[in-house]
Amino acid sequence: MTELKRFFNKVVLITGAANGVGRSAAERFAQEGAKIILADRNFKKAKTFAVALSTEGHEAKAFNFDAESIKSCDELVRFAMNEFGRIDILVNNVGGTDPIKDSDILNMDITYFDKIFHVNIRCMMYLSKLVLPSMIKQGKGVIINLSGNSSDMADNLYTLYGTTKAGVQCFTRHLATQYAKFGIRCNAVSPGLVMTNKVQSFLPKDTRQMFTKFEMEHLVGEPEEVANTIVFLASKDARFINGQTIKVDGGLSCNTLLMDSVVERYKLEMDRMETPHSASSSFAIDFED
Ligand SMILES: NC(=O)c1ccc[n+]([C@@H]2O[C@H](COP(=O)([O-])OP(=O)(O)OC[C@H]3O[C@@H](n4cnc5c(N)ncnc54)[C@H](O)[C@@H]3O)[C@@H](O)[C@H]2O)c1
Repeated sequence: MTELKRFFNKVVLITGAANGVGRSAAERFAQEGAKIILADRNFKKAKTFAVALSTEGHEAKAFNFDAESIKSCDELVRFAMNEFGRIDILVNNVGGTDPIKDSDILNMDITYFDKIFHVNIRCMMYLSKLVLPSMIKQGKGVIINLSGNSSDMADNLYTLYGTTKAGVQCFTRHLATQYAKFGIRCNAVSPGLVMTNKVQSFLPKDTRQMFTKFEMEHLVGEPEEVANTIVFLASKDARFINGQTIKVDGGLSCNTLLMDSVVERYKLEMDRMETPHSASSSFAIDFED
């Protein structure tokens, strides 16, 4: 029986493809028969990755990409069309922030606004604008955008980042609405905490153990777990999904585990004070009343 390759001969353009989620998605698409354009400012790493994929029998090309530059977006799409003649799937994956500049509102560096908005939003908008005409001509195409939990869960940091990621979801809905009639689908993926090399480089070394200790290890993800959803959304299996944001966060955004910790702390306090008014009784709902 011949192996089923869902993306045989499809051309996939992925930004930020040298590391993390973009890299995992590129691997998955390549394994399923796609030809890949790996766009990244870390050209050396993207090139080495392209060579590695080619050695395994896949088709992959690296492009030295600067997500802050309109010109670089133009050149990237031209490069992809020259190499493979079409773009079937665009994964707008590049994104990130600097937590020092992008902190709380009083302390954030407003001059960082342009940089982060260009990388996280303008690049996604402009690349989509560039690939749409050929997708319309083909009568089909898929665009997948990377959002993030900071879009709808607030923090003491990442004010600018969260705002851009909310914008990603809004743009996704507009694109899906405007171009569905041409056979084009657009969805967003919103990851929670994903243990890429970069994330691991700034989190404390025992982060995973901390989550394990509190039986919350399911809230820490791996890049391939996000890639799985990207690949699914690009596939025909997702043909009836359009304009949506799919959260891939192990349930982080749907729980109130923090409240558990607060209650636990309260119980400990009560026990320590040895009051007759025990924590469990004060928190219990008495249905006998
Ligand atoms: N890792 C997480 O926990 C997490 C959580 C929520 C959302 N996300 C989102 O998922 C996407 C992928 O994140 P990741 O964690 O895999 O990222 P990463 O930092 O591991 O990799 C990002 C890649 O993009 C490239 N890049 C960065 N800036 C660039 C620029 N200006 N021009 C060209 N290339 C550039 C980097 O060289 C790198 O290869 C991003 O949009 C990110 O915001 C990640």
